[in-house]
Amino acid sequence: MTSKMPLPGELDPIETASRDEISALQLERLKWSVRHTYDNVEPYRQKCLAKGVHPDDLKCLADLGQFPFMTKADLRDHYPFGLFAVPRHKLARLHASSGTTGKPVVVGYTRNDLDNWAAVVARSIRAAGGRAGDMVHVAYGYGMFTGGLGAHYGVERLGACVVPMSGGQTEKQVQQIMDFKPDIIMVTPSYSLVIAEEFERLGIQPEEISLKVGIFGAEPWGEGMRSEIERKLGIDAIDIYGLTEVMGPGVACECIETKDGPVIWEDHFYPEIIDPETGEVLPDGEEGELVFTSLTKEAFPVIRYRTRDLTRLLPPTARSFRRIGKITGRSDDMLIIRGVNVFPTQIEEQILRDPRLSGNYQVVVTREGHLDNLEVRCEVQRELSGKLPPADIQAIGKELQHRIKTIIGVSTQITVMEFDAIPRTQVGKAKRVLDERPKQN
Ligand code: DLL
Repeated sequence: MTSKMPLPGELDPIETASRDEISALQLERLKWSVRHTYDNVEPYRQKCLAKGVHPDDLKCLADLGQFPFMTKADLRDHYPFGLFAVPRHKLARLHASSGTTGKPVVVGYTRNDLDNWAAVVARSIRAAGGRAGDMVHVAYGYGMFTGGLGAHYGVERLGACVVPMSGGQTEKQVQQIMDFKPDIIMVTPSYSLVIAEEFERLGIQPEEISLKVGIFGAEPWGEGMRSEIERKLGIDAIDIYGLTEVMGPGVACECIETKDGPVIWEDHFYPEIIDPETGEVLPDGEEGELVFTSLTKEAFPVIRYRTRDLTRLLPPTARSFRRIGKITGRSDDMLIIRGVNVFPTQIEEQILRDPRLSGNYQVVVTREGHLDNLEVRCEVQRELSGKLPPADIQAIGKELQHRIKTIIGVSTQITVMEFDAIPRTQVGKAKRVLDERPKQN
C-alpha cells in the first residue's frame, strides 16, 4: 500500500478548487438537473406545478429551497420505474433497497451514471488512502444492494485489484485475507467485528493481518466503534456514506489524513440540512435532516431527497468540499422511551467506553402496561468470557446503566452476556434494535 497523503496531481482538480468555482459548477449542474427532472419525471412536475415553481425560477443555489421535496413515499408510490427520467432502453443497471416495510425502492442508472458512480467511489477509496496497485477485499453484499457492486467498480476505476468476496462465509473471508494479503477491506462496521472475532479465535494478532485500511459504511457507527475496529484489526477505519436513492456508497467519504467526517462529493451531490419538522433550510453547522439533490444523474435524478439521516454540514478541511458529521441516526431509528429520544448509536458509545465490553450489542424494547422498557444486551470481550466472577459482571452492568442514565437520560435494564451470545449479522446491516412493543393501529 502506497502513501496515505495524496500527492499533488493525484486528486481531481475540483477536490481542491475554490468555493466560487465549486458553487459555479453546482449552479450550472443544478439548473440542468432540475430542468431534466421537471421535463422527464411527471410526478415531480406535478409537485412543482402544485407549489407554483418552475425550473426558470432557479437563479442561485439558495433558490433550490423553493422546490418541493422528494421522499421515500414518492418512490414507493411510483414503484417500480415511475420516477425514472429516461426510457427503459437507456438503462444500464438497476439496484434496489429492501427497506423494512412495503415495496422495495428501485433505482436505475445509465452508462454515464455508472461511470460517475465508479469515479466517486474511486475518489472515496483514494481519500481513504488507497492507490492504483493496491488490493481491495470487498465484503459488502453483491446483488441488488448497492454496496458490493458500487465498491467493486470504484476499486477497478482506481486501478486497484478487487477481490469480490461479498458478505458471509466468515471463515473463508479470513482465510482469503491471510492468503491474498489485501491492503484494504470494504465492509459494514458490524461485520468487520465478526471478521475480527474470527481472527481472534484463530489466535491471529492484528500485526499479522495485511490490512492497513477499512472503508466502513451502510449503517451508523460511532467513534467508540472506530477505536474498537482499529484496535482489533490494526487498521485505519474510514467512514463512507451513501444511499441507494442518491447513488449508493460514495456520496461522501472521509479522508485518512483527517478522519473528521465524510467529505461530500459536492460536484455530484448538493446537500442541504433541514428542520425535519418544518422543512426549513438550516445554516451549516446546525443539526437536522440531510437532503440531497443529484447534479449529474440521468436515469434517476433526485431533487431535494429527504434521507431521514440526522447530521450537520461541516466546513471543508482536507478537501474543498464540505463534510457531514457522523450520522447520529435516522429519524426513523429514533426510539422514544418514556419521552426520552434515544438513538442506538448513543447506547453503543456508552457500551464501548468500557474496554471489557465488545462492540456487539442489541437493544430490546418492550411494553409493560403503558410504559416502555429498554433492555440493553451486551457482551464481554472474548478474553474475559467465562472468566469473570458474577460480582464483576454485575458491576459492569451497574456502571453501564448508570452512564446511560446520566448521559442519555433513560433508565435501562442491562444484560451482560458471555462473548458470542448475541447473534451476528453476516450479510446486510446489523439488527441492533428489537422492538417488541405491540403494533399501534
Ligand atoms: O447502505 C449504501 C452504502 C453501501 C453506503 C456501502 C456505504 C457503504 P442503503 O441500503 O440505501 O444504501 O442505506 C442507506 O444507510 O440513509 C443511512 O441511514 C445508512 N448509512 C449508509 N452509510 C452510512 C454511514 C447503503 N457511513 C442508509 N454512517 C443511509 C451512518 C450510514 N449511516
